[in-house]
Amino acid sequence: MGFSFGIDIGGTGIKGAPVDCDSGALIGERYRIPTPSNSTPDAVADVVAKIVDHHGWSGPVGIAMPSVVIDGVVHTAANIDDAWIGVDGRALFADRLGVDVELLNDADAAGLAEMRCGAGRDVAGVVLVITMGTGIGSALFIDGRLVPNTELGHLEFAGESIEAYAAASARDRDGLSWDQWAARVDEFCAVVERLLSPDMMIFGGGASKKAHKWIDSLHTRAERRVADFANSAGIAGAAMAVRSQ
Ligand code: BGC
Repeated sequence: MGFSFGIDIGGTGIKGAPVDCDSGALIGERYRIPTPSNSTPDAVADVVAKIVDHHGWSGPVGIAMPSVVIDGVVHTAANIDDAWIGVDGRALFADRLGVDVELLNDADAAGLAEMRCGAGRDVAGVVLVITMGTGIGSALFIDGRLVPNTELGHLEFAGESIEAYAAASARDRDGLSWDQWAARVDEFCAVVERLLSPDMMIFGGGASKKAHKWIDSLHTRAERRVADFANSAGIAGAAMAVRSQ
């Protein structure tokens, strides 16, 4: 597939690097700029342009963000400004950067990287890639094919999004031990298993770096795996998405 460039837009940082799409490896510095406090489309596009310029990149760019994205249009905004809703983000970035752009959900991007080059490589059946960070992201694959925008972190639990209860950020916020937090993740997994009966669940995101502290406390029927890519999965998968257009 060759080389491409990936950008991962998060609530606190926007990160990007050139990527070898055959291995998913970043082939240059992972350059990070804090997300502007007023994370409107124009402000974010300025930061994305700075990251691409920093690397002197002039080819296609894949961009991942914490939103439902359908045909380039942003439909939800978690941890970024609501002004994104309804914006054709793909057109906005393509115009700003002057190159071809693909725009997709950040967990879907992370899932693509895991399924092509990581823990889910060559795995058939129903596979869920779950990212545990500030929120909970989800990417659903059936025989390797992505079903985009599943947003399982927004399943309702006790009157709010289940990510408010079980994301990695809830562990810090509520001062939970790993076991206490794993019990919450287990509740999330039980809801998901009732709905989708996945064959495998791959856990990524920031909390996957300490997976040995919690993943074996879960009770899923599905086989559990730790993601191979931790923080670079969104960048790698975004780059792969633009290459595979
Ligand atoms: C967003 C998802 C995103 C996840 C991880 C959730 O709050 O709704 O789109 O994938 O956070 O960033």
